[in-house]
Amino acid sequence: MACMHLTNAMSFRPERFSGAGKYHKPADFLPRRKSVLISCAGSSPESPPSKPEIELEFIAPKPENDGSYAVEKATAISGEKLLRSIMKDNKIELYATYGKLMNCGGGGSCGTCIVEIIDGKDLLNERTNAELKYLKKKPESWRLACQTIVGNKENSGKVVVQRIPQWKK
Ligand code: FES
Repeated sequence: MACMHLTNAMSFRPERFSGAGKYHKPADFLPRRKSVLISCAGSSPESPPSKPEIELEFIAPKPENDGSYAVEKATAISGEKLLRSIMKDNKIELYATYGKLMNCGGGGSCGTCIVEIIDGKDLLNERTNAELKYLKKKPESWRLACQTIVGNKENSGKVVVQRIPQWKK
């Protein structure tokens, strides 16, 4: 709850003399200032309503020596970013060797940012025209990370993504 701290608004009076001609400093003469605490109803600027968030898990394309897959995690505000940007912001590798050198920078024209959505497909946008072109013959769970918006500003939940190994693309 927001509060304001006000000071009692007494008018300032310069030096005064008491009846006997004695000088009194203003601090002796004026009443003490009082602090007043006022509560304000409604939302406070310190705590704006929180926006829905999407949790993301990124599974490595290849297993470790023990057969397990490394998982990296990130969180994003729903509907604000593309999957590619989220991975870039969190330093999560998206491209295989060729894509690192030759990707189109997120323009939807190279097809090197393909990922598989393991879980949470319903929290993403529909395939764009670029995806319909590049992924026409690929499984429905495959997406171009540069075309995939994570969340719709209202939903929240968890999306699990696996990077596709180069040999599968
Ligand atoms: S980065 Fe080129 S299609 Fe996604």
